[in-house]
Amino acid sequence: MKLCIDIADVAQIRHIYEYFPVDGVSTNPSILAKEGRNPYDVLKEIRSVIGEEGELFVQATAQKAEVMAEESRRIVAELGKTTLVKIPCTPEGFKAMKILHQEGIRFIGTAVYTTMQGWLAAKCGAEYVAPYVNRIDNMGFDGVQVSKDIHDAITGSGYDSYSGLLAASFKNSQQVLELAKYGVKAVTVAPDIIEGLVKNAAIDAAIDQFTADFEGLAGVGNTMATV
Ligand code: G3P
Repeated sequence: MKLCIDIADVAQIRHIYEYFPVDGVSTNPSILAKEGRNPYDVLKEIRSVIGEEGELFVQATAQKAEVMAEESRRIVAELGKTTLVKIPCTPEGFKAMKILHQEGIRFIGTAVYTTMQGWLAAKCGAEYVAPYVNRIDNMGFDGVQVSKDIHDAITGSGYDSYSGLLAASFKNSQQVLELAKYGVKAVTVAPDIIEGLVKNAAIDAAIDQFTADFEGLAGVGNTMATV
């Protein structure tokens, strides 16, 4: 499963990339707004951190298909071919997706709350579909289950361009692991969810005990590199 981070803060992206195996960065208009700078300046910095091979997800902001297509052309021209444009799964979005598919511009279906939205996006040529797990939970449904249903519905249909889910909007690491077990293609999560995957007092205690035992043997500050 691919692991992406859902943030535009360049310092945090650098930090997470240094410590964890990350495959890409996703943003949306709200995430970019938090940076308070020209979005292309921020996105180009992100591109320089993640390299040409890293997948970068950038959302079209308009609500009309033709304008979304125009935004998509600019986004890919500025940020490179490993940039995928996030298109909201609305009727205008589906119209934009059909234009982009014809032009060979890579895109994903985003703002997905229902299986039908996801399936239509895949049928329009979306490479990924992004269900919003936590936001679906907050509507009184089961976001993980809806994501599994979308996965099943699209996988069963077998569309050529479709690669898999890019599940988004997580509130905890358990939701991520449940989708990993189900075999979804990718998730995008906030940095604290990634750190939450391995943050545990029992782990810290075990490592501290190993250090104490070894230093008892070899002297404080010594390691296998220095004994
Ligand atoms: O980019 C869409 C998704 O990641 C939103 O997440 O946490 O704002 O629900 P959140």
